[in-house]
Amino acid sequence: MDAGNLAELEPVALAATRAAALACQRWIGRGSPDDADEAATEAMRTALAKAQGLGTVVIGEGAKDKAPMLFDGEQVGKGGEPAFDIAVDPLECTKLCAKGLPSSLATIAFAQPGTMPPLGAAYYMDKLVGPRALRGVLNLTDPPETTLQRTSEVLGKPIQDLRIVVLDKPRHEELIERLQRAGAEVSIPPDGDVAGALAAILPGAEADLLMGIGGTPEGVMTACAVRALGAFMQARLAPQRPDEEQAVASAGLSTERIYELDELAAGEGLFAATGITGGPLLRRPWRQDGHVYTESIVIAAGTVRTVVEAGPETAPNH
Ligand code: FBP
Repeated sequence: MDAGNLAELEPVALAATRAAALACQRWIGRGSPDDADEAATEAMRTALAKAQGLGTVVIGEGAKDKAPMLFDGEQVGKGGEPAFDIAVDPLECTKLCAKGLPSSLATIAFAQPGTMPPLGAAYYMDKLVGPRALRGVLNLTDPPETTLQRTSEVLGKPIQDLRIVVLDKPRHEELIERLQRAGAEVSIPPDGDVAGALAAILPGAEADLLMGIGGTPEGVMTACAVRALGAFMQARLAPQRPDEEQAVASAGLSTERIYELDELAAGEGLFAATGITGGPLLRRPWRQDGHVYTESIVIAAGTVRTVVEAGPETAPNH
């Protein structure tokens, strides 16, 4: 995708994440994750239908939780040029939204056709994400202690000053304990490894690394942002359930293979997100002077932009 196409697609991405973020406002803190997911998904689908060009969903979030989703292979847009691939999670951190907790986001990534890996059979992948300096230095197969040591050397920080984001999941108990034992600060959010990865790669990064197993769609979207910023990422499929393991094997996918960044994002892309419940990355939508405002982030071609947009008051309540 050239710079022209990327620029053309930015308003489409923002319209999609903004619509999703506004549509699920009324479901924040209502204890109903599926309703929130459905509202976000439908709003995003409607927004994408208005796009110039033809987008193909390569990987959508929802299958693992049997939640409403934009389906793998689903086509959106009015047709014609540009053609683009999509990785999407209209409501990233559904549970946080349903519980009224910070850090849920509406997220999407676009890339050149054929450049997003078709990994939809795998719900989960192990990820290692960090700043540019770590390219060619870290390896997902290394023990966490080695990863910390190398990161410390390359970033010129003592291990005690490294901040590592790992999702608070039972599968990460040992990883977290080993990182803490080695002396690192471990930040353990209940959900949200897209935001965790961004924390490690955005300018003025608050973290040094994201480690651990999270969703595959989230991983593919993250890879778009990582590539756009020239940062570091490796991943490996990590099925967590027997049905998923079977689907991964039937799709001929390997759980041994380490995916490098240029396989996770083989071409230039664009990542966009809009805040839903608010948090350190993006504010929750707010009303002011007869408008509803949203805050979004767009990452593409080496740049990061925060976009505040105002829309009419007719947007769904929150
Ligand atoms: P959703 O709530 O949108 O499914 O995602 C939240 C999240 O924490 C992601 O950030 C992460 O990649 C994934 O879930 C991990 O899955 P699980 O919660 O099933 O371990």
